[in-house]
Amino acid sequence: MQIDLLSPSSFIGGQPHHQFQWLREHAPVHWHDEPSGRGFWAVTRFEDVWAVDRGFTTYSSEPTIMIADAVGNGGLGPYKMMLMMDPPEHTGFRKLIRSEFTQPAAHLREGRIAELARQIVDAVISKGECDFVADVAGEMPSFVMAELMGLPLDDGRELYKLTETIHTSAEALPPGAGQAAVAKMFEYGMGVIKEKRARPADDLASKLLACEVDGRKLEDPEFLLFFLLLVDAAGDTTRNLLSGGLLALMAEPEKLAWLRADLDARLPAAREELLRWTSPVIYMRRTAKHDAELAGAQIREGDKVVMYFGAANRDPGKFERPDELDLARAPNEHIAFGTGPHGCLGQHIARIEIDAMLREVLIRMRDFELAAEPEWLPSNFISGPKAMPIRFRAAA
Ligand code: HEM
Repeated sequence: MQIDLLSPSSFIGGQPHHQFQWLREHAPVHWHDEPSGRGFWAVTRFEDVWAVDRGFTTYSSEPTIMIADAVGNGGLGPYKMMLMMDPPEHTGFRKLIRSEFTQPAAHLREGRIAELARQIVDAVISKGECDFVADVAGEMPSFVMAELMGLPLDDGRELYKLTETIHTSAEALPPGAGQAAVAKMFEYGMGVIKEKRARPADDLASKLLACEVDGRKLEDPEFLLFFLLLVDAAGDTTRNLLSGGLLALMAEPEKLAWLRADLDARLPAAREELLRWTSPVIYMRRTAKHDAELAGAQIREGDKVVMYFGAANRDPGKFERPDELDLARAPNEHIAFGTGPHGCLGQHIARIEIDAMLREVLIRMRDFELAAEPEWLPSNFISGPKAMPIRFRAAA
């Protein structure tokens, strides 16, 4: 079996499940060469991914969670993004924003998110066709992040375009385009600092600028890294779940009909299954702090250890009939949001966004049909279509 988990072409059309299956069966902790780096261990079984994600005393998130070492903090010197810190430093930073993302806090946003979902479908419903990614799925996370941060909704849309470039593999972009997108994000973030310091409001950006870590205010680069993390983490993940999820439902019309038949009752389990099925975040990397053994493999201090969430989510050792889309699956302890200290902070908001958007789309839009083949994001980090032209009929 030819194993290539680096080339973005391996992820066009979806995650390489045939490679993942071979790896889980023959080499669950597999040494993968890296043409421009030292190589890495690819971890594909659920129980090992779980152990690495929780085992932060052995598997560090520093210096970066990307496979390429060069992808650091966007040139902000010694400053780090929370995603690339270990406890206890990470715990202090996460605490700064945790209260905005609890389940009760997320539920307070439910009404507004439902209203946004209605507006998004209102804008396309009479057209009979649209690019589901840009016109529907992408709009929701862009708007929600803009509202959280206290920014104009149109700016949310522009920031989301930058996120897409940042998550595209470097070889699929013109030279320097990734760094330019990060620089633009920081430039925009500097404007936010200026505006929110002058006119603080009841939003996350103002709160971040006012809060204290270790008895001091955040420095500008620390705010910028928080800003980049939140915009990046919230954008094409949720978008890809929605687009990849609809694509999966369109491929199995009888399951789509079953879901529609009792949407409110069936949506929660279906949403979890779509998360397991699509696993929008392909991987997170850790770096071994000391020698360790993992499923029989000898990991050396400094080795890169890469967790493949999509592979873990199809592990027959964890899930019965893992390659079947079972919208009523229960239990469904997938790991699409990760686990451990870095487990997705936005997961409660993400679930509310997904439910609101799917509810609106499945009730008001009917007879979906692809108007052209979906175009996939050339990325080995984030999985999903970047364009998906569809035709549909408005429900009577
Ligand atoms: C379907 C949508 C989403 C998926 C699949 C997803 C997945 C993930 C994953 C896999 C991680 C890393 C977990 C780990 O290392 O164990 C993560 C981290 C994170 N996510 Fe999400 N995410 C989604 C939506 C969101 C949203 C909507 C937000 C914000 C509103 C968000 C904010 C974050 C943040 C801040 C982190 C970093 C947490 C930390 O370092 O402590 N995510 N997410």
